[in-house]
Amino acid sequence: MKDTHGRTIDYLRISLTDRCNFRCIYCMPEEGVDQLSHKDILRFGEIVEIARVAAQMGIKRLRLTGGEPLVRKGVEHLVRELKDIPGIESIAMTTNGVLLPRMAESLRRAGLSRVNISLDTLDPDQFKRITRRGELEQTLDGIDAALEAGFDPVKINAVTVRSLDQDYLAFAKLSLDRPLHVRFIEYMPVGESSGTDGCGWGKQDVVPSEELRAIIDERAVEEGLGRLRPAAKHRPSGWGPASYYEFEGAQGTVGFISPLSRHFCSECNRLRLSADGRLRPCLFSDEEYDVKTALATGREEDVRRVIAQAIGAKPDEHHDKIGTERGMSQIGG
Ligand code: GTP
Ligand code: 5AD
Ligand code: SF4
Repeated sequence: MKDTHGRTIDYLRISLTDRCNFRCIYCMPEEGVDQLSHKDILRFGEIVEIARVAAQMGIKRLRLTGGEPLVRKGVEHLVRELKDIPGIESIAMTTNGVLLPRMAESLRRAGLSRVNISLDTLDPDQFKRITRRGELEQTLDGIDAALEAGFDPVKINAVTVRSLDQDYLAFAKLSLDRPLHVRFIEYMPVGESSGTDGCGWGKQDVVPSEELRAIIDERAVEEGLGRLRPAAKHRPSGWGPASYYEFEGAQGTVGFISPLSRHFCSECNRLRLSADGRLRPCLFSDEEYDVKTALATGREEDVRRVIAQAIGAKPDEHHDKIGTERGMSQIGG
């Protein structure tokens, strides 16, 4: 379906839960956020039903997010059912990877197409400080498990926060020897609770992608790797907003997601469904449409109407007023 600005909306991000086994400092305060109660969360049957109607309206690709989607029990069954919906071509997931050593194989067998794994540092102490709960080894094991299970591409999402002083080149080098696609993401101001130690997002913490690429290039040249060049043959399939580069001879790529320094609203192809059944036309706006209540009427046309309303409400670009009612862990990124 096309929106009022001529964009084709064919991609739905589904947040399965607002819960998470980490507490990343840019995403949640240490004590967590007020969680949705179980009765408010969409049951898997409801998610499948909404996805089925959305597929009839032109949605072809799904991405499961959270919180951490794998903390919800039985995700493999959900993947299998979503996969069987006529019109759905691909199902991806964004995860912190901790549960992948246990689940990668079964998710792949169930029909999950791709995984993006969140990882912001390769330093074990810094990893503990950022996630407040996790061990670096857990996520690294998750990446190994994803590759072993045959997911392709496997993308790594690294949020860059200036005051964290991350080692960008070490990260970019993950793309050298294995088919990993490392993406650096500009730190976004979403939700009141986001921000270093819950203190709130600050412009000074954003590292614009152009600056970041120049830093990586300078250090890569010093190490004899040469500069990053626009990715050609290895450009990973996907539908997202990243620009991809690569080092000569590398197996993977280095991508940059620049929501602040290069708005990609004109290419936006997506809708978001929250774990409590609200459709969100834009990541940055608090505007939401209640599809859970529409589903409860038992009339498919009510669900259609709400989906069409949400698509119709997609703004042409995001404006300075950014929503504060839900944080990233509740929207799913
Ligand atoms: P691919 O299709 O694999 O490229 O996925 P993706 O990049 O769309 O999804 P992922 O969940 O891995 O998100 C990576 C980063 O992009 C996260 O920080 C998301 O919040 C951000 N992101 C995804 N979609 C949008 C969007 O529509 N607008 C903005 N501003 N950021 C987005
Ligand atoms: N800015 C940018 N990316 C973020 N993510 C979570 N919070 C933010 C933020 N404030 C990322 C996660 C995950 C994806 C869904 O969104 O690291 O990879
Ligand atoms: Fe959890 Fe992802 Fe938020 Fe980290 S960024 S706390 S892994 S939802």
